[in-house]
Amino acid sequence: MRRKVIKAVFPVAGLGTRFLPATKAVPKEMMTLVDRPLIQYAIDEARAAGIKEFIFVTSRGKSALEDYFDTAPELEASLRRKGKDDLLQTLKQTNMESGAIAYIRQHRALGLGHAVWCARRLIADEPFAVILPDDVIAGEKGCLQQMVEAYEETGGCMVAAMEVPPSKASAYGILDVEQDLGHQVKVKGMIEKPNADEAPSNLAVIGRYILTPQVMRNLNKMRSGTGGEIQLTDAIAEEIQAGRDVYGYRFRGQRFDCGSKAGFLQATVAFGLGRNDLRDEFSHYLDELMAVRNAAQ
Ligand code: UTP
Repeated sequence: MRRKVIKAVFPVAGLGTRFLPATKAVPKEMMTLVDRPLIQYAIDEARAAGIKEFIFVTSRGKSALEDYFDTAPELEASLRRKGKDDLLQTLKQTNMESGAIAYIRQHRALGLGHAVWCARRLIADEPFAVILPDDVIAGEKGCLQQMVEAYEETGGCMVAAMEVPPSKASAYGILDVEQDLGHQVKVKGMIEKPNADEAPSNLAVIGRYILTPQVMRNLNKMRSGTGGEIQLTDAIAEEIQAGRDVYGYRFRGQRFDCGSKAGFLQATVAFGLGRNDLRDEFSHYLDELMAVRNAAQ
């Protein structure tokens, strides 16, 4: 029987240069969409997909992440004294079972592939998920849960895939499709950041993966690819070359690139409008803003 995916790696060791100066002191993953940090969305999605072991690959300056998932005895005692049960309830989502979360340091930001490889001893010989918390995906069913369900049928490696226009291809890894199976596509190649005229399809890889332990072994060889970084895409592409199955999964949901400023702002608006406690006030504000802008044009 296929082993269940119960481990997930969260690579959070990047420098986050697109959000400087904020990321000089605040980890990118701690930036908030409305009132929850990006990492909370990622953890919730992983939990919904059945993940039980959470492996963070961190770096210097990311201790706020560790504190976030710890208890806060003084704060909790103070809220209890004041009878603020709703806030205590809110804090519960940050509690992790003891031993469920592990932190590993990536000592130098040598790329996503290298960050994932840093978790090799904890992954050992099991399939595992990788979640990039700066890709936030809104939808009824979590993206990773959709992928885990599909993976239970197919096995192999699976990457989340999203349609992009050719002009955007150079920002992504792009899939070369062998067979279109509907939600899934069987992949015969992957190209990291191709020019628009070299992109083999319009399906881009985004930050959710289910990987076999063999991908870790491929990463052991550690050659730097595009941009001098060790690319996860290269280690997955090796699986295809070895004749093993790699699938792209067209997930249902809307993905926001919260690693970019524009994407982060879009997510803030979408999640703000999605909240019952904010929708009326916020949409009223946006309507007024648009009316003023339109009148000025
Ligand atoms: P990005 O490409 O978004 O890089 O990494 P970044 O450093 O986070 O941000 P910018 O581009 O400088 O603004 C994608 C994911 O891979 C992780 C990041 O933390 C992010 O979740 N990553 C990247 C690592 O953990 N280590 C690395 O060496 C590189």
